[in-house]
This record gives sequence, C-alpha cells and structure tokens, in this order.
Amino acid sequence: MKLALYSGTFDPITKGHKEIIERASRMCDKLIVAVLNNSSKKTLFSLKERKEMVEEALKNIDNIEVIEHSGLLADYMREIDCKYIIRGLRAVIDYEYELSLAYGNYDISNGEIETVFIPASKKYLYVSSSIVRELALYNGKLDDYLDEFVIEKIKSRVKE
Ligand code: COA
Repeated sequence: MKLALYSGTFDPITKGHKEIIERASRMCDKLIVAVLNNSSKKTLFSLKERKEMVEEALKNIDNIEVIEHSGLLADYMREIDCKYIIRGLRAVIDYEYELSLAYGNYDISNGEIETVFIPASKKYLYVSSSIVRELALYNGKLDDYLDEFVIEKIKSRVKE
C-alpha cells in the first residue's frame, strides 16, 4: 500500500496501539495516524492533547504523520485520497463493532474505503484505554501498558 490510515480515539495511546501502528507502518509507504472523536465517548484528554501524546509516542517511526480530525473520517480520507483504514483486532469482542465501522466507512465512501485488520499480539489482547484510565485512577501498575511520559500525564490528569 502506498498510503494508509490508522484511526482511533487514543485516550490515551497505549503500547497496544503502538504495536499495531509499528506493524502497519511496515505495510505501507506512508501511514497517517488519525486522532478522532467518537461521539459516544467523553474523553479524559482533549483532541489536541491526545494528538500531542500520539506524536511523542511515535516520534521514532519515520513514515508516519499524525493528524487530528473532528468530522467524518471518510470525508478526510477523500480529501487526501487515502483508501485504506488499518485497525487492530483484539479479542472476539471487537469483531461486531469493527465490522459496523468497516461497513459504515465502506458505504459512506461508495465502496472506495476498505478496512484492513491486523491481529493484536497476545500480550496486548486485553489492553484498552478505559482499562488504563481505571488503573491510573486506583494507582495500579501501568508500565506494561503505557510509555513513561503517558503514565505521568494520566496520573496528573486523574488527580485533578
Ligand atoms: N491496543 C490497545 N487498545 C486498543 C487497541 C489496541 N491495539 N485496539 C483498540 N483498542 C481499544 C481502545 O483503547 C479503545 O478502548 P476504550 O473503548 O476502552 O477507550 C477501544 O479499543 C476502541 O477504540 P478506538 O480504536 O480508538 O476506536 P473508537 O471506538 O474509540 O473510535 C473512531 C473509532 C474514532 C475511529 C471512529 O469513531 C471514527 O472514525 N470517528 C470519526 C467519525 C466517523 O467517521 N464516524 C463514522 C464511522 S462509520
């Protein structure tokens, strides 16, 4: 693939996201990492803060550009002429939801946007942003799941 896009809310970015992004970056010439809003989620970090964390976490991968977008993903993809979305699949529980997103994007783009799934590695099968937010709230151990700088940010945010 020449150009592909990995999308997510990243509230915050975890090592599970990073693992998928590193693998995705090897499958294409350029990977856009799009930080978005899911209208059914209230986030701990603003869109700008989430984008800054994603940029910092991925700064060592050369062929990546991080962007933020607050409208429909398919509209942004049409603007930049990108036709592939890459998403990670963890356990079976992701499947129904991911299928609805994939068909949604396929339909609203008149069949132009395909979604490609990468299976998450076993180590990160059950990591999610809500789990790390919960761990941060109750002072749980976070270093298996988050970069050091993200741990500092999430701890200080939950204290506020
Ligand atoms: N490692 C760790 N966590 C992972 C993961 C991985 N490899 N893959 C998924 N997750 C987790 C996330 O942490 C997140 O956890 P949470 O629900 O506990 O916060 C969850 O899986 C799903 O998150 P994400 O992949 O970020 O998707 P999302 O459901 O929050 O949002 C968007 C999906 C933002 C891409 C989608 O809503 C979107 O495209 N929005 C823009 C508007 C639009 O175009 N809508 C129409 C779509 S048809």
